[in-house]
Amino acid sequence: MIKFKSILLIVFAVIITQSCSDTSTKSDKEKFIDNLISQMTLAEKVGQMTLYSSGEDPTVPVFNPKFREEIQKGGAGAIFASISMDSIKYLQGLAMKSRLKIPMLFGYDVVHGYKTIFPIPLAETASWDMKMLEKTAAVAADEASASGINWVFAPMVDLARDARWGRVSEGAGEDPYLGGLAAKARVKGFQGSNLKNNNTVAACAKHFAAYGASISGKDYNTVDLSENYLREVYLKPYKSAKDAGVSSMMSAFNEVNGIPATANKKLLTDVLRDEWGFDGFVVSDFASIGELMNHGFAENKEQCAELSINAGLDMDMEASVYKEEIVQPLVDAKKIEISKLNNSVRRILRVKYDLGLFDDPYKYCNEDRAKNKVFTKSNLAIARDMARKSIVLLKNENQLLPLNLSKLKTIALIGPLAKNQADPMGTWIAQGDTTSVVTTYQGLKKQLPKNSKLLYTKGCDIDSDDTSDFKNAIKIAKQSDLILLALGEKGDMSGEAASKGNINLPGVQTKLLETLSKLNKPIVLILTNGRPMTLEKEVKLSNAVLETWILGTTSGDAIADVLTGKYNPSGKLPMTFPRDIGQLPIYYAFKNTGRPSNPDVRYSSRFLDIPSSPLFPFGYGLSYTTFAYSNLKIDKETLSNKDVLTATVNIKNTGDFDGEEVVQLYLRDLIGSVTRPVRELKAYEKIKIKKGETKTIRFEIIPERDLSFVRADLSTGTEDGDFTLFIGGNSDAQLAANFKLKN
Ligand code: BGC
Repeated sequence: MIKFKSILLIVFAVIITQSCSDTSTKSDKEKFIDNLISQMTLAEKVGQMTLYSSGEDPTVPVFNPKFREEIQKGGAGAIFASISMDSIKYLQGLAMKSRLKIPMLFGYDVVHGYKTIFPIPLAETASWDMKMLEKTAAVAADEASASGINWVFAPMVDLARDARWGRVSEGAGEDPYLGGLAAKARVKGFQGSNLKNNNTVAACAKHFAAYGASISGKDYNTVDLSENYLREVYLKPYKSAKDAGVSSMMSAFNEVNGIPATANKKLLTDVLRDEWGFDGFVVSDFASIGELMNHGFAENKEQCAELSINAGLDMDMEASVYKEEIVQPLVDAKKIEISKLNNSVRRILRVKYDLGLFDDPYKYCNEDRAKNKVFTKSNLAIARDMARKSIVLLKNENQLLPLNLSKLKTIALIGPLAKNQADPMGTWIAQGDTTSVVTTYQGLKKQLPKNSKLLYTKGCDIDSDDTSDFKNAIKIAKQSDLILLALGEKGDMSGEAASKGNINLPGVQTKLLETLSKLNKPIVLILTNGRPMTLEKEVKLSNAVLETWILGTTSGDAIADVLTGKYNPSGKLPMTFPRDIGQLPIYYAFKNTGRPSNPDVRYSSRFLDIPSSPLFPFGYGLSYTTFAYSNLKIDKETLSNKDVLTATVNIKNTGDFDGEEVVQLYLRDLIGSVTRPVRELKAYEKIKIKKGETKTIRFEIIPERDLSFVRADLSTGTEDGDFTLFIGGNSDAQLAANFKLKN
């Protein structure tokens, strides 16, 4: 008995000590921060709320030398784009000379890699392989943190349904579910399990909110969305980033329903903080606080400061509005409460504390790590694996691919992207070096057998009207058994400020394809581009088509891996490909309307001159093998919110290769008090299936999680009624089962 009692006592003691130490760690942090804030002057507070550009990155405005003095006075909380370790050490040293010695954050756009450049985020998402997304973000964090960076302006989680918007390349595509998973994976990758580790960085989910919904896909343009649509679709990936513990968010350039995101209290405070409980900080986008004047929302800098601080915008990136001389009078006039400033500063200091910067402001400046962790062989191997997993096979007539290398003696590689190192890097390449990019030509050369000949000519530029090299293209094509045609966009034709009114192949590239197609040689079209494009004609004229997006440093190796069959493609489109620009915005989760689209019915929701259907649906992508879906079963036809519905399906590899398939589950809620999309992706699984093998995949539908939606009064929940479940290899899946929710 005594023994038992003493064991119990020990157990209690352990529990009490553990919970005490938990609360004391927590309160230690908050106490530390409170103590610091209590000593800060207003100038030091707005200093913490200010971010300056270093000017070391050529794309960023030059650092004003006067900021050096300000840093020493505690006038800067963060520096953007300081890219050499020496300068980071130097600038942090200046902050250490300030009265309260508060270390600075060093932020940088590490959007798809730091030095080892991975595929653009849209491409990575096409892999549907979230473990890989997490891995590449972790490598990017490792490289960036080894170089002194402790905060990355990534992931970009803006959902987008209009391919004219150049920034679709930076995001995860059109779907809230897939986008939410990608956001989570990337935040986890950047931040790891503990920000205190020296190989993790604070992430920044951007751009809050709905930046991807700009009217006509024009960058920075107005966003006007119903609150249902906003919550149901556009806000979801930010919420996933928040749930994954993201340290910071960046506000968006655009207005949302009449209020610029930069000073949108409803978004920044009511939703983000009060509803979601986000306790990290929000930084503005570049100079966007000052742009409140252009929006016609604020009259002068004073009003910009008042509106954005009161809305909950914590840090000013480069607008120079959060200044003592601007903010002090606003506090004196009681237009801004000091508690607002304290809250903003607290949120910023928390991240610095979490990173361990108060213990060691120089912890990310470690020469050894910089030497050993950046651009390593193993990072390049991860990049290559990610790149080949990102490629989507769009067409493969008569199994033209993989290349039959025993028969193909001479191959013509033609096109402005065949020997091109710069464009397969895209934008936001941080410290990536274009001269280290493996081109398609180089990649193929390494993998083709010695006795096969690879002929090359450029054929044309990406975007000029010069056809003078067509004759060489025809000449080498005639000498060859097969034509590989590498066409696409320039790297900077997608990304920020790269909206397009036409998403065809630029220049005379299509003309080159038309010319070569007359030679009756098999053509493999290899596309390099940062967005869905209108490619109906090009797809028709080609026998096989690979969408390789923008693959980064190891581009050519990955493309060669797929062409030669070393890797069997498994990517699936994260965005619908339109047939025509007039279809935009186009997405699979549309509403049925009162007059559902019917090409044969004039008074239906359609176009007179173009079809409604996409060229390739969301979720589409082929493999060198084929898969047959059968035997879809659900374990109940009626369920309540307390039940779980199980769906199973068989997938057989019916082709000649081992392969991977992304098995996708979509739901349709047939009748709702707010109308529901015709399909919504609710689950998927990426599986490997050996040639001839059949696998059974099992999905669970949990009503509160999978059947809920935002109702007219903005509450979220389920509604009883009929549902259809579809399973297949893309959003056009035909295998279906019906069930009923009844509570
Ligand atoms: C972009 C952001 C980026 C910032 C700093 C802005 O123009 O919209 O995505 O993080 O610049 O480079």
